[in-house]
Amino acid sequence: MPEAVRTTRTASRVVGWTLSTLMAPFARRFIAGTALPDALDALARLKARGFSTTVDHLGEKVESREETEIATGQYVVMLKALKERALDRNISVKLSQLGLDFDVELCAINLERIVKAAEDVGGFVRVDMEGSDLTGRTIEMVLRMKRTRLTPIGVALQAMLIRTPEDALSLIGREIPIRLCKGAYREPARVALQRMEDVQRAFISIAKRLLTTGLRHGIATHDPWLIEEIKKFAAAQGIAKDRFEFQMLYGIRRRLAQSLVAEGYRVRIYVPFGRSWVPYTWRRIRERKENLMFIVKHFFVR
Ligand code: FDA
Repeated sequence: MPEAVRTTRTASRVVGWTLSTLMAPFARRFIAGTALPDALDALARLKARGFSTTVDHLGEKVESREETEIATGQYVVMLKALKERALDRNISVKLSQLGLDFDVELCAINLERIVKAAEDVGGFVRVDMEGSDLTGRTIEMVLRMKRTRLTPIGVALQAMLIRTPEDALSLIGREIPIRLCKGAYREPARVALQRMEDVQRAFISIAKRLLTTGLRHGIATHDPWLIEEIKKFAAAQGIAKDRFEFQMLYGIRRRLAQSLVAEGYRVRIYVPFGRSWVPYTWRRIRERKENLMFIVKHFFVR
């Protein structure tokens, strides 16, 4: 191997190692551990505090058939373990972990297996939404899986995307439960709103539409302003507190989540675990200035 290539590889390994060391404290806060038993314990603790849960075995953008099959098998095992431990049989999965990026048919076979396993244990599969290059294919895949009203599948939509109001309407038409979030991926102005106020406005308008459909949708945000607006809207419309749910991420705004439970709202916590924690943790770090500053400060101080 040429000297220059070796040096570049070593340098990128050192930077990679340093970054993951700096991210580790955040990973401990945002991730429920690296193995299934860690996640099951975290889910049991949340259940005892009155929360519903959904669990994500971290992984995305995998590149081989074998990796997709391993991930699928892990989800099937996980659904059985959730049933055995009498925990919420609700899972969250990214389709790029099942091969959507490189083989749509393979992804369909894998997802079908997971949906069937969820059906067998009375569970539910929530498909996470990834970058806008995958939005169309993700929605098509969910629609393809939805055989009857009772097929246990739903999908996340991102309020920041310009296409989302239309996607929401077509999914509502097929009675597919939606998790509405702001969107965690950097997207260009051609496809996504760029200002936070515009994203909030879009979020509230789509959320109001969801709340009046009769299906139980998820309002996934830690934004206190949005949460108050939703509460006021639901109360004004006479929508019962158990007809929708708030959803939050593990390790974020714990007190706010607990106070919503105390007020009688349903709150579902999204619990990620696994060894592939870097991309997820990086998204959490990047979406908050204070987290990013911590990394930048410590990177240069080392
Ligand atoms: P906002 O970012 O304004 O945060 C509101 C407050 O929450 C902050 O002031 C802070 O107190 C706290 N907070 C938020 N993020 C924090 C962080 N990283 N660290 C520390 N504090 C933080 N996205 C996506 O693209 N696809 C998906 O499938 C999902 N799925 C999903 C599920 C669930 C249950 C949730 C709650 C979120 C997602 N997301 C997602 C992520 C979502 O798109 C968004 O990036 C984050 O929720 C942050 O946006 P908020 O609406 O919480 O508001």
